Amino acid sequence: MTANVRSVVTGVGGCLPPGVVTNDDLAAFVDTNDAWIVERTGIHSRRRAAEDQATSDLAVEAARKALAQAGRSADDVDMILVATTTPDLTFPATAAIVQRKLGAPVGIAFDVQAVCSGFVYALAVADNFVVRGLARCALVIGAETMTRLMDWTDRGTCVLFGDGAGAVVLEPRAGEGTTADRGILGFALRADGAKQDLLYVDGGPSTTGTVGKLRMQGNQVFRHAVVNISEAVLAAAETAGVTMAQVDWFIPHQANQRILEGVAKRLGIDGTRVISTVAEHANTSAASIPLALATGIEDGRIRPGQLLLLEAMGGGLTWGAVVLRL
Ligand code: UT7
Repeated sequence: MTANVRSVVTGVGGCLPPGVVTNDDLAAFVDTNDAWIVERTGIHSRRRAAEDQATSDLAVEAARKALAQAGRSADDVDMILVATTTPDLTFPATAAIVQRKLGAPVGIAFDVQAVCSGFVYALAVADNFVVRGLARCALVIGAETMTRLMDWTDRGTCVLFGDGAGAVVLEPRAGEGTTADRGILGFALRADGAKQDLLYVDGGPSTTGTVGKLRMQGNQVFRHAVVNISEAVLAAAETAGVTMAQVDWFIPHQANQRILEGVAKRLGIDGTRVISTVAEHANTSAASIPLALATGIEDGRIRPGQLLLLEAMGGGLTWGAVVLRL
């Protein structure tokens, strides 16, 4: 290993369950309408996992695609991180279930729980293993079945979320120690537990003994997102040594089109450099960034060598950003 080892994304894959739920479908049983949802969020539809589809099933499909793109097989995988807030079971970790389903050998496997920021957190965790030589082929997956946490009588939340998964393969590559290197160049992670009440699930094994439902003070989370994400983004960019003008693609967490645009505007990033999938994916929590990345690569917009800026904010509150060159 040289001093300038970087964690490089060598493969990306996404998985969307086939079940499409439109705004009109929701308006059939909750007091909402297509016009309100589109105007306030930009969401037109979302995916819903089938009853027999668990978070790990979505994760495995995304992981297989990412491994294929990287030219790797499950046998090569020595670390699996699953960022999820909707695990299959209270334990074992969904990452260990994914390891079994993939048939990957004994290695490192654990979940990262930072809600919608989970993928950003997991990338930063995996980066530290990869650059230290502790993992040579890491799968970092964001996978969620958020529809399982919905209170379907609460129009303020149930229209916002969807199911899906996205995965990346991270491998060590020697770099020059410059911003031209491929790989993760910088990140910034933040949490403020004092703001727990703004967004949480009202159940858990050590309190209610139930799974619980998602609760959110949407407009307060909205305000926090637009104001505070920019600070973390600029901190990540400073660590990486890049400016916003150099960013080829801004790939934000897909919570709300108005948040995406608000953050991009604050950062001086014009809309032509923003990947938005919120219209058809809605908010898939930790899956939203890798799914948006997979979408942008599949449609040919995002290309190897480009500088990517990822950011997210979610329950905790947690938030953070990663700068990487593909
Ligand atoms: O990924 C984790 C982070 N989560 C987020 O980033 C979500 C952040 N928040 C948001 O995206 C927005 O705050 C929402 C989309 C949740 C809400 O938009 P808003 O512009 O902040 O609306 P609001 O909550 O202030 O509500 C405005 C009105 C209220 O009616 P009144 O009190 O003015 O009569 C709500 O009851 O809109 C009403 N409303 C709805 N109406 C129709 C709330 N939800 C709906 C709905 N359909 N689904």
